Amino acid sequence: MEIFEGIHTRRSIRHFTDIEVRKEDLDEIIKAGTWAPSGLNNQPWRFAVIKDKDMRYDMAQLTKYGKIIENAPVCIAVFADKDAMYNDVKDHQAVGACLQNMLLAAHALRLGAVWLGEILKNGDEVRKLLELPESMDLMAVIAIGYPASKGKTPQRKDVSEVLLKEI
Ligand SMILES: Cc1cc2nc3c(=O)[nH]c(=O)nc-3n(C[C@H](O)[C@H](O)[C@H](O)COP(=O)(O)O)c2cc1C
Repeated sequence: MEIFEGIHTRRSIRHFTDIEVRKEDLDEIIKAGTWAPSGLNNQPWRFAVIKDKDMRYDMAQLTKYGKIIENAPVCIAVFADKDAMYNDVKDHQAVGACLQNMLLAAHALRLGAVWLGEILKNGDEVRKLLELPESMDLMAVIAIGYPASKGKTPQRKDVSEVLLKEI
């Protein structure tokens, strides 16, 4: 998939078929995440892959978007490792870039995915559920699967509306 086509046609997908996602594809998605830029190349991102149905059910109770987590064949929880961080803003920006790379990689593999942020209100509960150390700070959960329906096409502001200045 050509990069501009990927950027423009990626949509948040919230309904999935039951078809399992291949481990090779999950590894490819995580690898794409790890090729994001990061300040000082510190690569503060960490990942947990959750396929287990019972675990997804428990995670689903921690967000009002739980149905998406329950119905996706797999989720990837993405953390910032506080022990690897050097600057809050820059490290969070890096994990954001990592997340976008992952969404684009999923799209290139013809998978659907959505970035779930509402669950961050219970980030610590997610971390405890996954039995991860306190140094792991939840940044997002990505639900992934083969799309069962097309994502809506939300509008975007025109460039002229967001461009502040061109000197
Ligand atoms: C930081 C962040 C948090 C988000 N949290 C959620 C969420 O909790 N639930 C959800 O359904 N979508 C969530 N989304 C997806 C957005 O709703 C979606 O990206 C936006 O509506 C634009 O649609 P598009 O991704 O199809 O272009 C989130 C996206 C971002 C970047």
